[in-house]
Parts: sequence; C-alpha cells; structure tokens
Amino acid sequence: MVSDKVSIHGAWASRWVFILAATGSAVGLGNIWKFPYMTGMYGGGAFVIMYLVCIFLVGLPIMLAETLIGRRGRQSPVHSLGALALESGASPRWSWAALMGMVAALLILSFYSVIAGWSLDYIIAMGDGQFAGISAEGAGAAFGALTADPWRLALWHTLFMLLTGFVIARGVVAGLERSLRIMMPLLFILLLVLLGYSMTTGHFMQGFHFLFDFQPDRLLEGVLAALGHAFFTLSVGVGSIMAYGAYMPRRASIGSTVLAVGILDTLVALTAGLALFPIVFAAGMEPGAGPGLMFVTLPVAFGNIAFGQVMGTLFFVLVLVAAWTSSISMLEPAVAYLVERTQRRRRLVTSALVLLCWLVGMGTVLSFNVGAEAKFFVFAADGFHLFQWGAEGGRNFFDSIDYLTSRILLPLGGLAFVLFAGWVLRREAVREELAIDNPLLFGLVYWLIRVVAPLGIVVVFVAELMK
Ligand code: PFF
Repeated sequence: MVSDKVSIHGAWASRWVFILAATGSAVGLGNIWKFPYMTGMYGGGAFVIMYLVCIFLVGLPIMLAETLIGRRGRQSPVHSLGALALESGASPRWSWAALMGMVAALLILSFYSVIAGWSLDYIIAMGDGQFAGISAEGAGAAFGALTADPWRLALWHTLFMLLTGFVIARGVVAGLERSLRIMMPLLFILLLVLLGYSMTTGHFMQGFHFLFDFQPDRLLEGVLAALGHAFFTLSVGVGSIMAYGAYMPRRASIGSTVLAVGILDTLVALTAGLALFPIVFAAGMEPGAGPGLMFVTLPVAFGNIAFGQVMGTLFFVLVLVAAWTSSISMLEPAVAYLVERTQRRRRLVTSALVLLCWLVGMGTVLSFNVGAEAKFFVFAADGFHLFQWGAEGGRNFFDSIDYLTSRILLPLGGLAFVLFAGWVLRREAVREELAIDNPLLFGLVYWLIRVVAPLGIVVVFVAELMK
C-alpha cells in the first residue's frame, strides 16, 4: 500500500517536529508584516473577521487535504498527486496543480527574500543604535532610503537567498528541526514582550478596538484579500505543507496536528496586530500605511524605550528567523521534485533554483526604486496593457507577483487540492489518514473538505470577478 512507503528525502522524528516545521512555515512575514498592514488597509476588525472565517472554513481544510495527500503519497507534491491520482483511477494531470503550486512557491520566494532582506538591514541599524530617539518622520525617511537603494536591497536579497539555499542543501530535516526548537519559542516570547510594551503606550485599547471592532459596511471590501491572505499565512495552496506531510510519521493524527498549526499561526498574527497597532497610534501614525508599517513604526517604538536597542535588534533577528523557516518551505517542493525527477544531487538542484529565484527577485528589488514605473496589468482608457512604462494605475513588479500568487495561484492550487482529497481519493483513504474516531466529527471535517472549502473559494472568486 502506498501509505507504508517512506520518503527518500527523510522523515520527521515525530508529529511534533511536523508541527514545528509546519508552524515554522506558516509563521513568517505573513503574520508579523503582512497581516497588520493588510488589516490597516482593509478596515481593521472587518478584515480580521473575514480572515478568521477564511482560516477556519477554507484554510484549515486545505491544510488537512495537503497533509494527507503528502503523507499518503510520500513523494514531492507533483509526484504524490500523480501517483495517488493513478491509484484512484483519475487522470495523472492532477499533478499539474502541484506543478502550478510549485511555481507559485518559487515566485513567492523571489519577493519574500527581498522583504526578509530588509530585516537584515534593520538588525544592523538597530544594533548600531541608528534608531535611538528617532521620530516617525526619521524612521520613514530611513525606510525610504533603504528601498530607494537597489544595491543595498540586492545585497540583502542575495544574502537571504543564500541562507535559504544553505539549509535546504544540507537537508531540511536536520536544519529545520534544530533551529525551530529554539527559535519558535523565542519568537513567541518576544512578541509577548512587545505586547507588554504596547500596553504601556496608553493606546492599547485604541489598537484593540481597531483590530476587533468592525464596521459591517466594510465586511465585503477585503474578502478576496482575506482569503488570499488566509492561504498565504497558512502556506497552503502551493504544496509546501504537502511536501512536509510526506515526511510525517505514519502514526499521527493529522486532524489535531493541523488544528494546532492553524491556531498557533492565528495567535501569532493577532498578537502581532495587538502589539503593533497601539504603537502605531502612540506614534501618531496611520494604520493604513501599507508594506512599510512594520519597518517604520517598530523602529520608532524601539528607538524610544528602555533597552530598545537590544530588544529591537533581537526582534528583527527573530523576524529574520521566522522568514527563514518559511522560505525554506517554499523551496522544498521544487527541490524534492527535481531530485526525484533528475536524480541529481540535492545541492546542485538547490543551487540552480536559488539562482532562478534570485534573478526573479531582482525584479522586486527594482520595483521599489528605478523600476517603480514599470507597470503590469494596466486597465487604461484605451484598453488593457500587460505592460506599460509609467502608466497611471497598474501594478509594479512586486505588486504583480504578490497579486498573481496570493489572489490567483494560491486559491486555484488550494481548490485543486481540496477537490482532489474530497472527490478523487476514496472516503476510506481520507478517514484512515485523518484518524478522527468520532464519526460525526469526521463527517463534519469531510464535508468542509468536499463542499464548504471549494464553494468558499469559488464564491469569493466569482464575486470578485463581478465587482
Ligand atoms: N506562511 C508564510 C508567512 O505567513 O509568512 C508565507 C508562505 C510560506 C507562503 C510558505 C507560502 C509558502 F509556501
């Protein structure tokens, strides 16, 4: 039987290591950087509610589907889907969904690395005391100077890609496991410390209300954004979790494991929001500041509190680590696939993919400065242009890749994976993998996978098209 196989790439020591690895993948820039600024842009509480609904009704069922497909297939996502499809008498073309996800993961890695690189710059600036006593304007100007300098961005992007490649090349199991055991608890502690600080700003309740009060009229504004972000933050829809599922021990309940990962990820995002917004308000800044939110507001906070220099430095180290444990998971599906397919050494395959992502990432580097006017997907009065220099509207390279992945490729990949688990795999196979004893609970979870999650994705997509 397929499920007794082990992966040629290795296996986690226990389900706890899978939780660490999957949480390491899930908790990243999405939680600490993207969630707070998206919440700011889409109306605070209204966005948070849609986000929670999307996590529990759509994101977690997909994570379940991915984990069980991976564990049953025991290969890279592309080969697992292909093999399980054949076994179930379905078309091997199902593997194309994993291929698309794999490409999406590499695209995400290309820009993720650039942003993660900012934290490298901030570690040094913080450690050096450059933010001591800084004002909001000063922090804004420092951030502006960083993004305006393509050479500096390229340097950090290069370094981060090398860090990612380094761990993957040495084997994920050993590299990930060791660092995660130390870094994940540390990340939690630091967030709590920051939360404690934000409570002393005198603006804590303002931040709290911003996150949890909602205006009903803004509920629908950010649905697609919330859905896309639910995918992004849980790392689903690309096959990363599927790749990790392939290394999971046979005897472990997937249901409770995945729930733990989902809850941890959500907690980190909410804590980050609760820690950040009071600081934003205390500094008299706007929560809708966009991608610069974390890199502008936090330095102000750290620059003006006792021990801020040390804490700020540590904080950005941990942002870096959170990003690092995520970026590794973006590379793993493609590396596993190419190793299986070409029988080449992991190191060689990793180098080639790192180079590729680095090149694409240079597009993101340039979209913050000299290439800011290169616009894609332009809907203008004279029609649609895929590319136009200096157009009004349209998206720069970074925004385009972000949009293409979070809003289109991830939902499509997620849709394919839940449909596969819900309608192609036999019910008995799913029951066996999930190992949920209570028949009612299994029925509910299976219904989420078969009906609710796919419908949720389709409805949001169609609604967005008709807007
Ligand atoms: N979940 C990560 C975050 O929230 O930062 C981002 C991510 C990781 C997306 C891995 C996709 C992926 F495959």
